[in-house]
Amino acid sequence: MGRVLVTRRLPDGGLQPLAEAHHEVVGPNSDDSPFSTDALRAHARECDAIVSLLTDRIDAPVLEAGAAGGRLKVIANVAVGYDNIDVRAAAEYGIHVCNTPGVLDDTTADTAFLLILAASRLASTAESDLRTGRWAGWGVTQYLGRDVHGATLGIVGYGRIGRAVARRAEGFGMRVLHHARHPTSESGYVADLDELLARADIISLHTPGGSETHHLIDARRLGLMPRTAVLVNTSRGTVVDEPALADALHEGRIFAAGLDVYEREPEVDPRLLSAPRTVLLPHIGSASQATRTRMATMATSAVAIVLAGGTPANLVTPS
Ligand code: DGY
Repeated sequence: MGRVLVTRRLPDGGLQPLAEAHHEVVGPNSDDSPFSTDALRAHARECDAIVSLLTDRIDAPVLEAGAAGGRLKVIANVAVGYDNIDVRAAAEYGIHVCNTPGVLDDTTADTAFLLILAASRLASTAESDLRTGRWAGWGVTQYLGRDVHGATLGIVGYGRIGRAVARRAEGFGMRVLHHARHPTSESGYVADLDELLARADIISLHTPGGSETHHLIDARRLGLMPRTAVLVNTSRGTVVDEPALADALHEGRIFAAGLDVYEREPEVDPRLLSAPRTVLLPHIGSASQATRTRMATMATSAVAIVLAGGTPANLVTPS
């Protein structure tokens, strides 16, 4: 029987694999607040596994404490992204890191499409006017958005989620282009990201976070997009330079944006909050009951497998 820190509340059923294997569960905090770095370090020293969320910074000192305690074998992140974990340090200390690939692709692609539609058709502005009594009745020149059907969609990052968005776009009669770090040799591939940004009506971002994609969409690249362009981000906030995006929206240099992720969550740049034609969601990409339950179960199952001496399929550290 192992001791497992579960840092935050999980959806019902998420702890089942740990209960079945009779592991002791420590956490979460009674108010479900994230653990401080000091608390994470202390637990890392005394636990065999950590089930973490993307709100937990599992940095080198936490992993070092785990290695010093001599028990910590695995960190299972309840997310497909793992930019909150120092994977290289984990590998050096021989601690496994797992994520939750595959189970959230369609739900996240649904959210990307929700933002594509809502941002292009100015849904937030229109709804807010209605709710606050500013809508005086139907007018032929009101809330004139951009058509999604028939538009060119540029997908940046062509992994499972990007492809799931492409499948949805086909149903809307969109022309789909994509850019990825490695050539896909598939129809619609555009090797040069700058070219993709200049050609697409709507851009949807699906890259991982981390240093390689930090501010991939910066002021220069925003400047390449047509004034009619719509930018959607359901990947990681750090992929977009937020102040530069806020400038582009306030100055009307792009048409609209739909964002689910932010550089310093839960903080949101006040100039994005006040930006026109902008739809802002609080990182709900994978937030359906079924998907979040699958993610939690996948993470806790991986812990159970490692603590039983096995190797889970969803390892991101070299096995
Ligand atoms: C992830 O899994 O990385 C998302 O951001 C949360 O679903």
